[in-house]
Amino acid sequence: MSYPAERPRRLRRTAALRGLVAETRLHPADLIQPLFVREGLDEPRPIACMPGQVQHTRESVRKAAAAAVRAGVGGLLLFGIPETKDSDGRGAWDEHGITQLALADVAAEVGDATVVIGDINLDEYTEHGHVGVLDARGDVDNDATLAAYARVAVAQARAGAHMVAPSGMMDGQVGAIRRALDAAGHHNVPIMAYAAKYDSAFYGPFRDAVESRLTGTRSTHQQDPANLRESLREVLLDVDEGADMVMVKPAGLYLDVVRRVADAVNVPVAAYQVSGEYAAIEAAAANGWLTRDRAILESLTAIRRAGAGSVITYWATEIAERLPR
Ligand code: PBG
Repeated sequence: MSYPAERPRRLRRTAALRGLVAETRLHPADLIQPLFVREGLDEPRPIACMPGQVQHTRESVRKAAAAAVRAGVGGLLLFGIPETKDSDGRGAWDEHGITQLALADVAAEVGDATVVIGDINLDEYTEHGHVGVLDARGDVDNDATLAAYARVAVAQARAGAHMVAPSGMMDGQVGAIRRALDAAGHHNVPIMAYAAKYDSAFYGPFRDAVESRLTGTRSTHQQDPANLRESLREVLLDVDEGADMVMVKPAGLYLDVVRRVADAVNVPVAAYQVSGEYAAIEAAAANGWLTRDRAILESLTAIRRAGAGSVITYWATEIAERLPR
């Protein structure tokens, strides 16, 4: 009988040993909390397919932002849901639109204690639910949409956003937004580009959360889940156009993309753990099929281990409250 000389288990014997050699750690500042704000609500409204998440009122979103800051969360990503939608999504750049009002409220509440980020898109504001202006065939018109995104970016920066995050996957969107921000004097507002964004079934709960009316598809602009190299092309283009950070979305099913992107660029990389990833774990945990807290921490650790510096997650505040600072 011969015994092994190499004994990896030696370093796993106690929590202290495991902690000493852990290669990946979660820190509150790495986490970004998405928040939904709905125009015309008297009280927060639970989102059925995202247990624990709500559509906030203007009042309750301030409180949620303050709680996130107390927990040390690194950023807040705001999504406004207007009371009425129209064919070209004008509310998205209206200075009295719900996203602008909420950005101003939240920025006033938190000051510089965290990073307030506006999501640039039209899909919450259009009656057809598409991310931009439609052409005669009903497809999203790339260049007409760029002009709208530029207006949204300036409106959000004026309202007080510390950073903007274009999520529509239009070609040239980062460059168009950078030029518009610079021309309006917002040189210091960084862009976090949704750079590699896939056409995913896992956005389903989000579309309920923002009352999206989308019936068509996003497959003419969001990426095919079959492709990896295409993400490098998208990410490098965005960096070229002036992206200050790049994001991969969704996160958990695309860890190979996160790794390749992290190795390929020298700007910070974020990954978005999307609504369907959240809902899947919550639903399994509610049935007693997964141990909720362990599953959440494991999912977040895996995303950081793959190379994401920041993780956008609906659990940000909850988990940050429990992490050492
Ligand atoms: C677009 C946007 C979407 C998400 C974030 N920004 C939806 C989409 O592209 O259809 C999805 C986020 C999630 O599923 O958690 N406004």
